[in-house]
Amino acid sequence: MLPKKVKIVEVGARDGLQNESRAATVAVRVELIRLLAAAGLTSIEAGSFVSAERVPQMANSDAVLKALLADSEATVAGDSNAVAHPVEYPVEYPVLVPNLRGLDAALQAGAKHIAVFAAASEAFSRKNINCGVDESIERFAAVAERALASNLRVRGYVSCALGCPYQGEVATAEVARVAGLLRDLGCYEISLGDTTGVGTPGKARAMLERVAEVVPVEQLAAHFHDTFGQALANIYAALQVGVRVVDTAVAGLGGCPFAPGAAGNAATEDVVYMLDGLGIDSGVDLSKLRFAADFICAKLERPNYSKAAVALANRS
Ligand code: HMG
Ligand code: MG
Repeated sequence: MLPKKVKIVEVGARDGLQNESRAATVAVRVELIRLLAAAGLTSIEAGSFVSAERVPQMANSDAVLKALLADSEATVAGDSNAVAHPVEYPVEYPVLVPNLRGLDAALQAGAKHIAVFAAASEAFSRKNINCGVDESIERFAAVAERALASNLRVRGYVSCALGCPYQGEVATAEVARVAGLLRDLGCYEISLGDTTGVGTPGKARAMLERVAEVVPVEQLAAHFHDTFGQALANIYAALQVGVRVVDTAVAGLGGCPFAPGAAGNAATEDVVYMLDGLGIDSGVDLSKLRFAADFICAKLERPNYSKAAVALANRS
């Protein structure tokens, strides 16, 4: 059965911008996230506390996060003049953290919400975070322990849930094992990433059903890249299985610098259009979302990969 409500986790300012050849400035990143919040998104990834050598696009995530948290404080204090696009509801700004060094930096910037990111593929894990899967779980256990002690919320990712750019097929049992380990170390939600966007709905469904034997489906999220044009269909399959949280990126931005050939995430506009059509409430206003998309596409000088956004633009 399809749900009445779905939560969208917007990853465009992280997954999206991390993969653009030209790095967006701090000011552009902050303005994009403000526009996304103004469109009704309540969970917006704000950056990554990773090596700036390896992912230069995510350098200065501390400045991005500080600016956003200052907005939140001004909103709570009722100082609407201080906030360009005031929002009336709490917005969470998760940031990616790979190790204790990243956690320290995130804490210093005031982070209240982090995401750790493991993989179901040994080869991808080594390329992405320079260690194997089990070693990464040990690192993340230390990160989660300290983060939870500091009252942070900790989300988990399992990449390569439907295939790996280096080793090809990935066993669903391994996806379930890694998801279970992340849940055991305190992640409140596990986002299952089709990092390279190779999955199809039947495969996505089988993977999600297998993982749900270990982690309740209420704690799972779908994070599907659109390389083969399957992301929306895979999300629909995920909703049918009982998943209620979906990761998307405005304008279909996205990709991982360590997953060659991967396209962007499912476009937020396409997912909101689909959910609206299904009568499922996401809380996101599609017309306001288009402001955010137009803004970032103009700044990056790139087209919008959302079919819904292009169709709506052609009408107006
Ligand atoms: P490492 O083990 O130290 O090894 O870092 P390294 O050789 O990969 O990196 C070395 C440099 O990073 C060293 O600096 C470290 O000190 C430094 P150097 O000595 O060369 O000057 N370093 C750090 N710098 C800043 N912040 C830190 C930090 N830690 C070490 N926290 C590390 C391991 C994971 C940090 C590194 O490999 C890295 O930053 N990798 C990038 C990972 C990344 O951001 N990947 C993209 C996000 S994951 C993704 O997109 C998938 C997802 O969307 C889901 C899906 O689609 O499936 C989430
Ligand atoms: Mg991704």
